[in-house]
Amino acid sequence: MHYFEYKNGELYAEDVKVQDLVKEYDTPLYIYSARTFKRHFTAFDSAFKELKHLTCYSVKANSNLCILKLLGQMGAGMDIVSGGELFRVLKAGIDPQKIVYSGVGKREHEIEEALMADILMFNIESEDELKKINEVAQRMNTTARISIRINPDVDPKTHPYISTGLKKNKFGLVEDIALQAYKLAKDLPHIQPIGLDCHIGSQLTSIDPFLDALDKILEFKDKLSDLDIEIKYLDLGGGLGITYDQENPPHPSEFGQALQQKLANQDLTLILEPGRVIAGNAGILVTRVLYNKKTPTKNFIIVDAAMNDLIRPSLYKSYHKIAPVVQKNKTNKIVVDVVGPICESGDFLAQERELPEMQSGELLAIFSAGAYGFTMSSQYNSRPRAAEILVDGDKITLARRREIYMDLIQLEDNCI
Ligand code: LLP
Repeated sequence: MHYFEYKNGELYAEDVKVQDLVKEYDTPLYIYSARTFKRHFTAFDSAFKELKHLTCYSVKANSNLCILKLLGQMGAGMDIVSGGELFRVLKAGIDPQKIVYSGVGKREHEIEEALMADILMFNIESEDELKKINEVAQRMNTTARISIRINPDVDPKTHPYISTGLKKNKFGLVEDIALQAYKLAKDLPHIQPIGLDCHIGSQLTSIDPFLDALDKILEFKDKLSDLDIEIKYLDLGGGLGITYDQENPPHPSEFGQALQQKLANQDLTLILEPGRVIAGNAGILVTRVLYNKKTPTKNFIIVDAAMNDLIRPSLYKSYHKIAPVVQKNKTNKIVVDVVGPICESGDFLAQERELPEMQSGELLAIFSAGAYGFTMSSQYNSRPRAAEILVDGDKITLARRREIYMDLIQLEDNCI
């Protein structure tokens, strides 16, 4: 569900015509809907209302400050994976006691910064990391609250690049090793184990893998009780999928009910780290048609957005719905590849897609681009990054200005 809708054949972002935004801000243009963000956050968060819980939005999905502030004001905590994300969420005014820090490769200065901020907990992914955090905490004369990420060896049945809870993945620790790590954590003077963590993958379209992982984790928790390690937080990560095309993912309320059944008798605070389910369908990327090109075997629509703006189709062959911003009644449909200007054959936004014939200068909207869209964008081919707009009703905020050529070279002072 989202608030990008056609009225009289024209696409609107909430109460604002997409065409009007393009007139003002040009293309390629990311447009986010505040109402959609709010609706998704509320739907997700209220799904767990019967349980003590904290919804920590996964910043990597969409880390624009305006979005972090909006979610923070609604009570969201944050799941971060870097010092940069910590910097952002603190700037957005998030309560550090609502911040959890995940990721396999936390650097020393990042650990220091997180300890300084006094975040809720670190989700630890290796014994080496545990020792490093203890060492940094000792130097700072403080204690780090931690959980250890369990790798439950559960198949999330999603794209291999975004599966994380299988034994072969780099993430988390398998149970035996995790148990040793908890024993170590208990003995380390500057570490306080308070949680258990797990994240099995992203874009899951069934809740069964979550429940399988949860069963394993709850069994594991009993082993920790035998060691006198008291777990107060259970972090189940993110991963709930969305509809890009024909997927039919469970509604958060279904997920909530299933978890409630399993956790009703546990004295735990549940932490969830949703990213895509909050942000994915709350954003579109608008692009302008540059040229049509016909080869002996294919029709191409060449547009001004490219893999540097939205890499998901190139990287995962992901499907994003694409449709004209202004609907036309009588045009022929043709099968096309929608491609960008970048010098790689992998630079496509859609392949073999049926679309109405488009003229140069017309606009296309790429849907479901609110998560892992702008955050994964780059300046490849020296293309300044797109602008980001946040619409709330008829209110328009330039959430990030379009980069200019000077932005491309501004850090290369020594060479100018
Ligand atoms: N927590 C942890 C520890 C994670 O690694 C992730 C995502 C999340 C939470 C949020 O997962 P979500 O609810 O968004 O599924 N670039 C890929 C997705 C990578 C996800 C990485 N980790 C894509 O565009 O599909």
